[in-house]
Amino acid sequence: MTAPAAADPRLSGRALKRIAYDEETIAKRVAEMGEEITDAYPDGELLVLGLLKGSFIFLSDLVRHIRRPLQVDFLVASSYGDATESSGVVRLLYDPETRLEGKHILLVEDIVDSGRTLNRLMALLGKRAPRSLEICALLHKNIATELQYETKFVGFDAPHEFLVGYGLDHAENFRHLPYIASLQ
Ligand code: PRP
Repeated sequence: MTAPAAADPRLSGRALKRIAYDEETIAKRVAEMGEEITDAYPDGELLVLGLLKGSFIFLSDLVRHIRRPLQVDFLVASSYGDATESSGVVRLLYDPETRLEGKHILLVEDIVDSGRTLNRLMALLGKRAPRSLEICALLHKNIATELQYETKFVGFDAPHEFLVGYGLDHAENFRHLPYIASLQ
């Protein structure tokens, strides 16, 4: 466990409980995941589909460690609003324009919490005849009893705390922290 960064000006006075994953730890694991993904897709077209907004930093770091041709697109869904508990209501606000048919689709999430977001999205994407459809998540809380799909690529088994940073927000704040931390 790492001590919180003292008086980080990015926090606007909000106190951290602890830093769960520092920059170096994240960078090392993301590079490893890039290698795992490179090895898992020896052929075919790969579309890396990032779920916004939470995955934007993870995805941009991850794709630079995938050493094979790929395309990038995004999905926008929303489940949390401003609350710290998942509401279970998933709204699809943007649908990828890219054709999914016949491609390997890698759906990239920042965190799997209740799994409701993924259940909804995987069902929807599966209907579009992809060659394969897998989930890649930086963090997995392993509490998603309702999740009907395996998460093939996982960065870290996440603690059961409300986490912010490296894309994850609290009421749209703290996404820009280069580390992942829990709030006081
Ligand atoms: C968060 C997070 C995941 C999802 C996980 O997204 O980024 O996408 O919730 O929760 P679940 O497993 O309980 O469904 P959010 O809706 O907060 O949007 P954001 O990515 O824009 O922060």
